[in-house]
Amino acid sequence: MSRRNLIIILGLLIVPGIALIGLIMKSPEGQTGGEALIGGPFELIDHTGKKVTDRDYRGKFMLVYFGFTYCPDVCPTELQNIAGALDIIGERRRKHLVPLFVTIDPERDTRELMATYVDNFHPDLVGLTGTPDQIRKIAKAYRVYYKKVKEKDSPDGYTMDHSALVFLMDDKGRYVRHFSYGTDSEQMAKGLKKAIDRRFPAS
Ligand code: NI
Repeated sequence: MSRRNLIIILGLLIVPGIALIGLIMKSPEGQTGGEALIGGPFELIDHTGKKVTDRDYRGKFMLVYFGFTYCPDVCPTELQNIAGALDIIGERRRKHLVPLFVTIDPERDTRELMATYVDNFHPDLVGLTGTPDQIRKIAKAYRVYYKKVKEKDSPDGYTMDHSALVFLMDDKGRYVRHFSYGTDSEQMAKGLKKAIDRRFPAS
């Protein structure tokens, strides 16, 4: 391969890569471009056993986090931050928001396990599971990376690698912003208040 062709091929690979990173890293208030690319239709089972789709949550903001119940620390930390933020924003705003915890480990995370797990964090938290195909589809829609990784000291000999962003979608299912991993409850609450109050002002 000529040097020139190599440069062209690398360019073709690198440019979309940078564009994607730009999309993920863009400023929290950024509204352009990203909203059409993150999110989309899904069909899953909630932790009460009910079949749900994205349309069932229209009219409310969705706070969407992907993880798995066997996660040793990242998920529990993030879900605690989410729970703390939900407490801070208060009941009026919580009525306009549904926090969703979507498993990326559907083989182990049955709806029963999800029910017990979400109960540990917040009464509003909804656990979502589904078939591996359904999970693949929603993870793709939200540009979420996950991968099964062999680890002999973990239960069943494996753990899951996964991205840990928290997505905020508006009442029409459109991307608003995301919170990066480690955003504390106060910061997250601030962002949630701002977005919810803009759409649903206190009367
Ligand atoms: Ni995790």
